[in-house]
Formats: sequence, structure tokens, C-alpha cells
Amino acid sequence: MIEVSGLTVTYPDGTRALEDVGFSIKEGDRVALVGANGAGKSTLLMAMLGVVAATSGSVNIAGIELSKKNLSAIRAHAGLVLQNPDDQLFCASVFDDVAFGPRNMGMDEKSVAKRVDSVLADLDAEKLRDRMPHRLSGGEKRVAAIASVLAMRPSVMLFDEPTSFLDPKARRHVAQLLTRLPHTMLIATHDLDMALDICQRVIVLQSGKVLSDGPAGKQLCDSELMDSAGLELPLCLGGKI
Ligand SMILES: Nc1ncnc2c1ncn2[C@@H]1O[C@H](COP(=O)(O)OP(=O)(O)O)[C@@H](O)[C@H]1O
Ligand SMILES: [Mg+2]
Repeated sequence: MIEVSGLTVTYPDGTRALEDVGFSIKEGDRVALVGANGAGKSTLLMAMLGVVAATSGSVNIAGIELSKKNLSAIRAHAGLVLQNPDDQLFCASVFDDVAFGPRNMGMDEKSVAKRVDSVLADLDAEKLRDRMPHRLSGGEKRVAAIASVLAMRPSVMLFDEPTSFLDPKARRHVAQLLTRLPHTMLIATHDLDMALDICQRVIVLQSGKVLSDGPAGKQLCDSELMDSAGLELPLCLGGKI
């Protein structure tokens, strides 16, 4: 479902954020992308959708090769939930934010309302429908942002730090929601406990390169590996706060 090969990104100021990154993800798999601050997680998610231009390498999602002329096709298949929901929600109501994409595709209002209601129901978030996004709690904002991406019915979901800025209860709620979605997922996070809980596989990024890629349990318990990636062991395995 996802094929990334030789992906290299150099920002205009000369920063080499990714170097020769490659991996593939099968349909329905939920994969965590972990790495210290600055490892290149956000850059990778953005480069996969052409938000950031790759210097070299290739990305293929659902059989579509990323290129300038395929940008809208690839973004129809893969949605990105940004790290900060305030960057994703900009309408006067959650309904309008979730409706934004479908309306943009030219869907009629009746179908838009049906789509919004079904997405909110899938997330148990019907009560958010008529709320003002900027008045929501952090956890509610995150759910609304996820709904706005799901409304486009993508088959692949990319998440950038979906549990950041959340209290433990909201964190658990969001993590649990992710396990209920059937999508192929790549979840950038430094919440290693969540990665361990909900992902079968972990890709470890270090300074823009894939340091290792394999089963979540095995890698996240490997204190040497976590140490060389600049990460702590998950708390549940005795990591420090
Ligand atoms: N717009 C940018 N211009 C230049 N360098 C950037 C830009 N965005 C990120 N970087 C750099 O690229 C590297 C990877 O950053 P990022 O992808 O945000 O990492 P992460 O999400 O893992 O914290 C870092 O060294 C960061 O400083
Ligand atoms: Mg980031």
C-alpha cells in the first residue's frame, strides 16, 4: 500500500532532513515511526504527500507514484493529521471543518451532511458536531481533526504525533480510536508506550536515516537501540519519566 524508496530531502537552507529512507507497508498495517526530536518524522510524512519536495527518491501510495501531476490523486488516497489540530481546524463549527473536504470535492449538501454524520459516529463524536473548534479541549480538537481527514475517505492515514499535548485520559482515548480504524497507518510519535500498545511494527529514524525497522515489541524493548536513537524505553518497560 505504501512504498518509499531512496527518499532524500534537503531543505532550501541546506539542512539534510532525510537521507535514503526506504520502507514498505502492507494494506491494513499500523506502523509507528519513532525517533528523537529532529530525526525527520514530520519531514517524512510531509514528503510522502508532496507537501515538502523530495530531493530524490520515490513514493508510491495505493499504486500512485508521487509526482507533481499526481499530487491531488495521492492526497485523495492518503490523509495527514497534523501535529497541531489548530493548523487543521479553521471553520466556525466542527461540522464545517469536517464538511470542508467533501464540499471542496463538489459533493451536494445532503451527501455532505450524511458523510459528516457518519464520520463523527464512527469516532463516537456526534456531540462535537455543532461545537466551535477553538473552544474544544485538546482531546476533542484532536478527534475533530481526525474526523476532518477521515471525511475524505482516504485508505491511508498518516499521523504526526497524535497524542502530543494530551492528558493521559485523552491520550488513551485517541490511541484507542486509532485501533478502531481499518486504515493502513503510519504514526509518527515519540509516545513509545502508545507505539507498543497499538502498532505491530516500528520504524526507527535517527538523523534522517532508518536506523532499524521491525516488530514493535522487540525494538522498543531493546535499550541499546532506543539509546542510540535518542529515545527512552517505554514507561511500561521501566523507562524514566
Ligand atoms: N522548513 C525547514 N527548513 C529547514 N530545516 C528544517 C525545516 N523543517 C525541519 N527542518 C529540520 O529538519 C530536521 C528534521 O525535522 P523534523 O522532520 O521536524 O523532525 P521530527 O518531526 O522528527 O522532530 C531537523 O533538523 C529540523 O531542524
Ligand atoms: Mg515532528
